[in-house]
Amino acid sequence: MEVRNRTDAVIQEKRIMNPSAISYHKTTCYDRNRMRGDPLDWPNQPRVFKAYDSIEAIPLPEVDKLPEIDLWHLYFSKTTKRLESGLDLKRLSQILSISYGLTSTRSYSEQTVLYRSVASAGALYPAEIYFFAFSIDNFQPGLYHYGIKDRSLTPLRGGDDSALMSTMTDSFETQSLSAVFIISGIFFRSSWKYRDRAYRYILLDAGHLIENLALALKATGLPYAIDYDFDDGHIGHLIGFDDQKEVSLASVHVGGRSSITQKELTKSSSLSPAIIEASSVSPVETVYEDIIDIHRSGINITKQSVKDPDISSKLGLNPLEWIPISQNKVPDKKLTYSEAVLRRRSRRNFINQKLKKTTFIQLIDIVFAARAENFSVAKGYAGALSIGFLAGNIEELPPGFYLADTVNKTAGYVDFEPTTNKMAAICLNQQWLCSASVHFLFMSNLNTIDRFWGPRGYRYAMMTAGRLGHALYLGATALGLGCCGIGAFYDDEGKNILGLNQESYLLYLVAVGEVKGM
Ligand SMILES: Cc1cc2nc3c(=O)[nH]c(=O)nc-3n(C[C@H](O)[C@H](O)[C@H](O)COP(=O)(O)O)c2cc1C
Repeated sequence: MEVRNRTDAVIQEKRIMNPSAISYHKTTCYDRNRMRGDPLDWPNQPRVFKAYDSIEAIPLPEVDKLPEIDLWHLYFSKTTKRLESGLDLKRLSQILSISYGLTSTRSYSEQTVLYRSVASAGALYPAEIYFFAFSIDNFQPGLYHYGIKDRSLTPLRGGDDSALMSTMTDSFETQSLSAVFIISGIFFRSSWKYRDRAYRYILLDAGHLIENLALALKATGLPYAIDYDFDDGHIGHLIGFDDQKEVSLASVHVGGRSSITQKELTKSSSLSPAIIEASSVSPVETVYEDIIDIHRSGINITKQSVKDPDISSKLGLNPLEWIPISQNKVPDKKLTYSEAVLRRRSRRNFINQKLKKTTFIQLIDIVFAARAENFSVAKGYAGALSIGFLAGNIEELPPGFYLADTVNKTAGYVDFEPTTNKMAAICLNQQWLCSASVHFLFMSNLNTIDRFWGPRGYRYAMMTAGRLGHALYLGATALGLGCCGIGAFYDDEGKNILGLNQESYLLYLVAVGEVKGM
């Protein structure tokens, strides 16, 4: 396996040591006049499934039943605090297959793509799931990797690292922890196509997966907590990552029954070289220093006593008028959470049809609920992000740009100038975006993020944007609408048309509307 570092003069000149959130973001902006259009290096296309060739995997039991809970009930209900019945392999199999399972196959002339239950920029799937098993009924404690394609678990380490885990979470007593899931990102899977900009997509993709995993845990009645602030370098080392290639981004803790007695702590076994090699996904991998630098720059965790930096008030926007936009009502006709996951796809064949106001409100209610849940179950990381939308074709809502107040559940009308048509041109001329009824916008003031949390705050903002994006995908699918996430836009044009101040940027856009054939 060969590793290439980017050494061309232009890139080296630009390199910023210890970048801040805003400097990384600026370095990776798309500019209409400076797009490189390099061809993709097809012989080095990364593998999208991680394989540990020399280790025998344990097959997961078949899933005969998926949770039947309605998506709105799921979002509107409170997270369980106590585990009523134990986590076993069957339930684990159910959780893994719904949160990150294969849902569709499509053959193209050159290749077959296996699509998954969550969206991924370019279908490159940089995210992986690992978990530490502590108290899973009739299952050996240890560290495992989840194999998506063959639905199996590969044991990476034996033993019980719950002592270590107790340093990672303050959400549950160590004695009542069933498992801890770790979501990772493999850099080259995404940077193969998106180069230095890929860190954005890796975080957004991780956010989509975290949201789906959280929903799957909630739907199966398991208590959980989400943490982005753990010693991710150390955890990566335990899992066997080469940290130039793969990093841990989030941990999801699952509570357990305190009646289960912990197995005696055993010293974890060491890792075989095959495990460390498994972070390699291509014969020749290019290391993008901007990605390594921003990730390393975010190593320090800044604890804040105040939870919310109130990003919305720092974007430089002055809404003219606020209107209520919530009804907190479960729609009559919709799919269940599981049905929505199985049918979710990125749909781009929008038809220019008016979106009913009630439907729009049902959608935005999902976003409000997802953000509130994020706030309580994920330590306030959602405070790193502000939400807005471009109304294109929504009943009773004049077209234009609105800022959402997630606490009072109101929308503030900012300006009529930014239209979905203009935004489509800014999104690398993806013209089909003109026909979407609404573009949801996830924005942040990156200087505020840097001051409040340091560069690590970039992870919070981007992963939260991914999480809320996933909520929208599911809400739209459940309501029979099309939806597509958009990470490709000319960044400065985006900020300018929205009237954001110099420090603020659009981070992610999710288009929703009526589509043909749903
Ligand atoms: C972070 C992110 C950015 C994306 N950006 C775009 C985009 O700019 N244009 C586009 O057509 N699709 C975009 N997509 C959609 C992906 O192409 C799509 O998720 C992927 O092909 C997998 O297909 P599926 O969503 O139908 O499962 C994006 C998805 C994500 C998660």
